[in-house]
Amino acid sequence: MSVNTPEPPQIDTGKAHPARVYDWLLGGKDNYPVDEAVGEKLPPEARDAARQNRQFMNRAAAWLAGQGIDQFLDIGTGIPTEPNLHQIVQGVVPHARVVYTDNDPIVLRHAEALLVSSPEGITDYIQADVRRPGGIIEHAREVLDFDRPIALSLIALMHFIPDDQDPHGIVGELLAALPSGSHLVLSHAASDRLAELAEQVTAEYARAGIRLGFRTREGVARFFDGLDLVEPGLVTAPEWFRSSPAPEPEESGIYAGVARLG
Ligand SMILES: C[S@@+](CC[C@H](N)C(=O)[O-])C[C@H]1O[C@@H](n2cnc3c(N)ncnc32)[C@H](O)[C@@H]1O
Repeated sequence: MSVNTPEPPQIDTGKAHPARVYDWLLGGKDNYPVDEAVGEKLPPEARDAARQNRQFMNRAAAWLAGQGIDQFLDIGTGIPTEPNLHQIVQGVVPHARVVYTDNDPIVLRHAEALLVSSPEGITDYIQADVRRPGGIIEHAREVLDFDRPIALSLIALMHFIPDDQDPHGIVGELLAALPSGSHLVLSHAASDRLAELAEQVTAEYARAGIRLGFRTREGVARFFDGLDLVEPGLVTAPEWFRSSPAPEPEESGIYAGVARLG
């Protein structure tokens, strides 16, 4: 277990942060009044979206571990919320290795909850920005074997990277480092579903100084270009289920998919 940062960066309680607003939406306690103020202004469907997204993560991680994937690189991890990814995958494959990454200092502060690995496995935490993928890969190599399949999870992350920051190029660079048999797990807020909700969320986050880049289905599908989407393909988060029982049908503004690198 290690945290790759010499000086823990300061937590800014004067400005809302994505990880903390999301924590508020999930009913967590690791947020500040400034984050709550943003969450309070959002329609209730935003809380549904957060829950649907997190439940997708749970199902996708369990499915991948069930396929024998035992290495995970999770970028945009968020504040620990049980069950965390390593708890899910190590429940299936106890020796699984998980490298977590986030750029928010509050996630680093809570990283010890992410670093309680099973005795047979390893968990690690990198304080880093997805917009510098090369550095993340370099650190992740200390724990993960890049000659064997890795699941790269970018769950509710890429809509924080607007088009002018080359989101598809960033994902392409991360995927280029992974060997055949690896998987991409990605969820993403939609601009072409529940459009009113998308507009309200984008506007409230913008007022709080957070830029969002919600995307159409086509824009999200581009992240999977050249990969083999596993069934049921790129669908809404509640529609993506594999081994667990199907959730109740519900509207969702979150796209989700898992794909394999050939
Ligand atoms: C909505 S939360 C998702 C958390 C978790 N992946 C989940 O789906 O339950 C988005 C996370 O991405 C992180 N994030 C946003 N921009 C980032 C960036 N440029 N680099 C790394 N992490 C980032 C935020 O700090 C936050 O923790």
